[in-house]
Amino acid sequence: MTTSSDCKSIPVRQLYENLAYPDMSHPVMDPAVTGVAALLGGLTCVPPSHARILEIGCAGGHNLLPLAQRWPHSQFVGIDFAENAISRARHRAIAAGIFNISFQHTDLLHYDPPVEFDYIIAHGFFSWVPDEVKAALFKFCQRHLAPSGIATISFNLRSGWARRAPVIELVRHLCQSLDCDEMAAISLLLNAAPTSSAAAGDIRWILEDMLAKGPAILPFDDFSPLNDPWALEQFVTVSSRFGLTWLGEADPAENLPSALDDTSRNLLASISNDPMGLQSAADLLVGRTFRAGVLRRTDAPVHERFSAAALLDLAVRSGTSAPPPDHPAAPLYHVLAALGPQCHPVSALSAALPEIAPPQLARLLFEAISRGIVRPRIEPVPFDPQPPEFPCLDPLRLLYARERLPVVDAFHVPCSFPVAHYEVLAAMDGKRSQGALLEISRSHCPELDFEPWLAHLAGRGMFQTPPATSR
Ligand SMILES: C[S@@+](CC[C@H](N)C(=O)[O-])C[C@H]1O[C@@H](n2cnc3c(N)ncnc32)[C@H](O)[C@@H]1O
Repeated sequence: MTTSSDCKSIPVRQLYENLAYPDMSHPVMDPAVTGVAALLGGLTCVPPSHARILEIGCAGGHNLLPLAQRWPHSQFVGIDFAENAISRARHRAIAAGIFNISFQHTDLLHYDPPVEFDYIIAHGFFSWVPDEVKAALFKFCQRHLAPSGIATISFNLRSGWARRAPVIELVRHLCQSLDCDEMAAISLLLNAAPTSSAAAGDIRWILEDMLAKGPAILPFDDFSPLNDPWALEQFVTVSSRFGLTWLGEADPAENLPSALDDTSRNLLASISNDPMGLQSAADLLVGRTFRAGVLRRTDAPVHERFSAAALLDLAVRSGTSAPPPDHPAAPLYHVLAALGPQCHPVSALSAALPEIAPPQLARLLFEAISRGIVRPRIEPVPFDPQPPEFPCLDPLRLLYARERLPVVDAFHVPCSFPVAHYEVLAAMDGKRSQGALLEISRSHCPELDFEPWLAHLAGRGMFQTPPATSR
């Protein structure tokens, strides 16, 4: 039997059955990151190292598998209605020897397992499905989140997509008239677009962005059969009708978009002190297209205010760029940058800054986290940032390298490489010395500066220490 919602799902279903969605991990969906937003909202989450974690619309499992590999004592489930994607995901789990995960081929509309989850992830899902499925997602979260659980749902924002809509329309029109594909129409438009006015600049920027996304992404993105961007208030209000409470942005540095400069932030703050109104206005100002909201059950056990002690329990690393030298949180940034690329317990920071008392450190940390000066997680990420003598990728990274997929670093960031570099990565099984790998590198990619590249990979926590017997 086909229901009316099934009918609306048909073009979406056909798209995902016929074309493989590009494999990608999403750092902002990492429960060790989203747990921070929960903690700042007064909720104590189950540690993701011992949790039940579900991804809805998991495609080929690229995002979920590295998490399952990282936390062997947690249980993972991925669901998707694209059969090809689920069979790829299952195959990868078996090939990488990851057994704490199951993948189910099902439509969310018909999925009602007899379990609760501590973390629910839905990335690239919400805005691309009919209203009935959006409602089913909220209902599912309300029904299947554990009392202290959180759901992280990304969605497209009207503020940025309203600017793109006329350009999308234009490209579609051109494709129809010329019977050409989107990439050809975009190139043609870029060539013909005037450069003189601010509006023309905006159009150029959008066309260039489309071109950069490329033919693998565009059918699922700008040219998807369904794209329904919402405003932040709409997401918050509608989710609340389903018994869910919005805790904030998954990345606490993006509640106010990082693209917004200090002058605009101060101006905004002088006009409004409603945090939500402020965030929506900021989204409009920068033309933001995307958010990832963290939701809890409205009846979840929360503390009125998060405690400073909870902040001091976090793990942190330095942000991507140094703050101005006179910024009060600058010492935190510099200590972390000197400690190395790993994510360190806050105790390491307080040990290096004994002159800062804990309450003051907590205040500075909060400021540094909301401005992206310091990046928090709810658990440390230790690794040796020096390349080992026998570089060894874990079985999943090795598999991704052999399949020429983005290899996921210690912070859940997907890293893509030129085809020839994959030849070297795929040989990093812990049985070859740096010298042997250098030889492979010289023969496959003579242009590659091997040693700095290896150091870069080590600095991203790509290597594991192989057991002595495996060499
Ligand atoms: C845009 S892709 C996103 C994939 C992945 N989460 C990511 O962000 O990289 C959306 C996925 O949701 C799946 N999907 C869409 N509607 C669904 C439904 N009603 N039930 C289950 N899966 C669905 C599609 O098959 C597709 O794999």
